[in-house]
Amino acid sequence: MEVLGLLYEGKAKKVFETDDKEVYLVEYKDDATAFNGEKKGKINHKGVINNKISSFLFQKLTKEGIDNHFISQLSDNQMLVKAVKIIPLEVVVRNVVAGSLVKRLGKEEGTVLKTPIIEFCYKNDALGDPMVNHYHIKALEIANEDEIDFIEKEVLRINDVVKKIFLDCQLDLIDLKVEFGRNSESKIILADEISPDTCRLWDHATNEKMDKDRFRRDLGKVEEAYQTVLARLEKVLQ
Ligand code: TMP
Repeated sequence: MEVLGLLYEGKAKKVFETDDKEVYLVEYKDDATAFNGEKKGKINHKGVINNKISSFLFQKLTKEGIDNHFISQLSDNQMLVKAVKIIPLEVVVRNVVAGSLVKRLGKEEGTVLKTPIIEFCYKNDALGDPMVNHYHIKALEIANEDEIDFIEKEVLRINDVVKKIFLDCQLDLIDLKVEFGRNSESKIILADEISPDTCRLWDHATNEKMDKDRFRRDLGKVEEAYQTVLARLEKVLQ
């Protein structure tokens, strides 16, 4: 396989085309941003850690029948993925109140939700990723009603599988953000990454934050938390 040009560079990853038009190479970076890029920094070894965590989770999801873009882990910080066109939606599932929901609903951080909440944000940095509903998504022709239905069902299944894996690691999945893409046959599959950058994970025994909130809120020991998540996953998934 030959790696061709850079297709896209995001805040945490680079995507390259390859000589197979159905395959992209994703390279995970150590760069970290928060608050729509206002806060910038680096988390040492994050590229390697998140590539490994995402690879584990995507493989596990495949086994559970959840189609996703993962093909193989190519190197410590690179994976090969199926080429998809990303649907410009950040799909969030929440199990416990945290982050932006604290202010929006006036609930205390840590309040367990009776049922999961699904939220959609329109992926657009210039607009600050505004929250949107089914009507916006259809009017903007981002997805049709059947596709939204599929995404909602799929994201709840993803939440169930990922929640269980992390619980085996003594971590509570507080919330997660995923993205979907369309392949060459217009089939919608899970894409992007699943890592402590895109999930909130709290230690089951102590409620200590083990995710990017440590960077967002300057809590210290950021790399250590990411390393711990990887080490616990390696232990249960080997
Ligand atoms: P929020 O509480 O800040 O809205 O975040 C909800 C979830 O989405 C949380 O797991 C962090 C994740 N997330 C991202 O992956 N990227 C983002 O840009 C934001 C704002 C949140």
